[in-house]
Amino acid sequence: MTPDTFITAIAIAREAGAIVRQGFGKVQRLNFKGAVNPVTDTDTAAEALILARLRTAFPDHAILGEETGGSPWNVPGPLWLVDPLDGTNNFAHGFPHFCVSLGMMVGGEPQIGVVYDPLRDELFAARRGAGATLNGHPIHVTSVARLADAFLATGFGYNRRVAADNNTRMLDYFLRRSQGVRRAGSAALDMAYVAGGRFDGYWESALSPWDLAGGVLLVQEAGGRCSDYTGGTAYLFSGREVLVSNGLIHAEMLRVLREGPAAPHPDFPDLVSA
Ligand code: IPD
Ligand code: CA
Ligand code: CA
Repeated sequence: MTPDTFITAIAIAREAGAIVRQGFGKVQRLNFKGAVNPVTDTDTAAEALILARLRTAFPDHAILGEETGGSPWNVPGPLWLVDPLDGTNNFAHGFPHFCVSLGMMVGGEPQIGVVYDPLRDELFAARRGAGATLNGHPIHVTSVARLADAFLATGFGYNRRVAADNNTRMLDYFLRRSQGVRRAGSAALDMAYVAGGRFDGYWESALSPWDLAGGVLLVQEAGGRCSDYTGGTAYLFSGREVLVSNGLIHAEMLRVLREGPAAPHPDFPDLVSA
C-alpha cells in the first residue's frame, strides 16, 4: 500500500463529505432497511460517488459498501469497506454529528482508516505504521488510567427493539463507574474521538464491518487498543461487538463487560451496586 493510495482515500472521503454536507437539512425522503435502520438519498449518492472513485483508482481492489454490498469480507487482497454516511439517524433528524468512513484492509488487517466529519471539516486519518492524524496533526489517545475518571461513548444497534440484550443494562453499569457516557450516534466518530483524546473508551455491539473499518486503525495508530468483549481479536468481522479504549482502562472495561453488576466500582463505594 503506497502513500498515493492513502492520499486518494483522503480525497475520496472529502469529496463524499461534500455531498453529505450539501444534503444536510434537506432530507425529503426517509426509507428504512428493516424496522429502524434509516437510509436517505444522500447515503446512496455518497456511496455511488465513493464506489465510482475507488473503481477508477483501484480497479483490482475489492469493495464492500453498506448500501450496495459487494465483495465478501474474507478476500486475500485489498478490500475497501465503505460507510458513506455514518450517523444517518442524526443526519435525517438535523442533528449535526455524522461522517464518511473508509477503511482499507489486506487479509483482514487494516491498512488505511479515514473518517471525515464534513460539518466540522475534521479529517481523521491513519496509515498502518505511520500514526494517526486530525487535519494533518498527530493525535494520541488519552492517559486517563482509571475507569472512574473516564469519559465514555456507546451506541445501540438497529436490533435494539428485538435483541434480548440491547446494551441498556451495560449502559447502567458503565454510567455508575465512569465520569459519563455519551451516545452521539456515529460509531466511526466515536472511535475517531477515542483516537483524538475526546473519549477515553467506547463499546458497542451489533455493528457491521463498515461501521468499524475506518475507526479501528485510527485508534490503534493513536496508541489505543481494540478488542471484542473478551479481549480477543474477533471484533471486525465475526464478533460484531467492539471495545475501544486508550489501552489503560481496557482491563477495567473488559471486567464490566464480563461481570456486569458484579464488577467492582472501588472509587464509588457509596453507589448502589447495579
Ligand atoms: C450506525 C451508527 C450508530 C450506531 C449504529 C450504526 P449508520 O451507523 O454508527 O452510532 O449505534 O449501530 O449502525 O446506520 O448511521 O451508518
Ligand atoms: Ca454506520
Ligand atoms: Ca451508514
